[in-house]
Amino acid sequence: MPHTFRPGDYSVFLGNLQDTFPAWLRERADSQMCLLADENTRLHCLPHFFEKTGLSPNTPVIEIPAGEQHKTLASCELIWQAMLDARLDRQALVINIGGGVIGDTGGFCAATWKRGVDFVQVPTTLLSMTDAAIGGKLGIDFQGIKNTIGVFRNPAAVFADPDFLQTLPERELLSGFAEVIKHALIGDPALWQRICATGFQVRPARHACDGPGSPSYNGWLEILRASIAVKVKIVQDDPFEKGLRALLNFGHTIGHALESYFMKTDDPLTHGEAIAIGMICETALSGGDAEAIAAVIRRHFPNRPIPPAIFPALWDLIQQDKKNAAGKVRMAIPGSEPFRMQLLEPTREEVEQCLIFYNGIKSV
Ligand code: GLY
Repeated sequence: MPHTFRPGDYSVFLGNLQDTFPAWLRERADSQMCLLADENTRLHCLPHFFEKTGLSPNTPVIEIPAGEQHKTLASCELIWQAMLDARLDRQALVINIGGGVIGDTGGFCAATWKRGVDFVQVPTTLLSMTDAAIGGKLGIDFQGIKNTIGVFRNPAAVFADPDFLQTLPERELLSGFAEVIKHALIGDPALWQRICATGFQVRPARHACDGPGSPSYNGWLEILRASIAVKVKIVQDDPFEKGLRALLNFGHTIGHALESYFMKTDDPLTHGEAIAIGMICETALSGGDAEAIAAVIRRHFPNRPIPPAIFPALWDLIQQDKKNAAGKVRMAIPGSEPFRMQLLEPTREEVEQCLIFYNGIKSV
């Protein structure tokens, strides 16, 4: 049975797409539909999407290149141009099929097209199922700085089907798992205990999900249900990030800086790898039990020392973070109870100290 969440004036359906999407679509009267995919989801996810939803494979598809480096104004221009060519009117529905880049970029283009057309998110990565597709944050990176241009606008619906996890390379699956860890740490101690349990592993992609009804599918349903519940509770409480929603940025102040820095090198970090390091560093900075978190994270993520030579560049990037106010860097860290937050205003020296701490715990 699918599970339905209500984070706002829309539903997040978790379960087999076949049991959710067709019935939802029948209730609507969209003038036109267009799909947005990237080169990977077009190949690996669209056939599955058409099969499960019964939508015609002739539905127009807009395609952008895959990868965070394409979450740009250039991709938006490509999408808007395709919308123009398709004469997309204001009663149209845009269906974003992909990970965070597709959801954020496609959502942003839909939200600004003729001042806004409806869009749905069909997340195909663990990261977007559990986090990016929910909560209405849309946007693009600008001049290498993540999510600098964007809007809040809720989708018409979100359809999360764990079946798509089969399509992911292992590194991508793990990247999303960092957001699951984050949700456990900020709001679900039982989920955190489960993750900490010896023997718990994120199974390689080809075994990640063997189809609806299989033990692996049901396992992912349970993890996603717990993780999505944390995200939903926070965006219900604070849709426009006036307070508690900043807690979803745990690990992201340092993590985004690392991700942006390494994006321009030959050895980029995935979003999850970057925020996994960010969660260890930010916990250390807050005086929390960073070693315990590091012990779990190190079971799943590679060790990646941060060269001290790049600390100044990281500090520059941290100063661009959207949470900063009045010239001060602000970091959101979990409080002493679930869904409680502490805001820190660390200095450059404190940030450098926690990066040094991180570099020193490779033996954990
Ligand atoms: N991904 C963080 C948020 O939705 O606020």
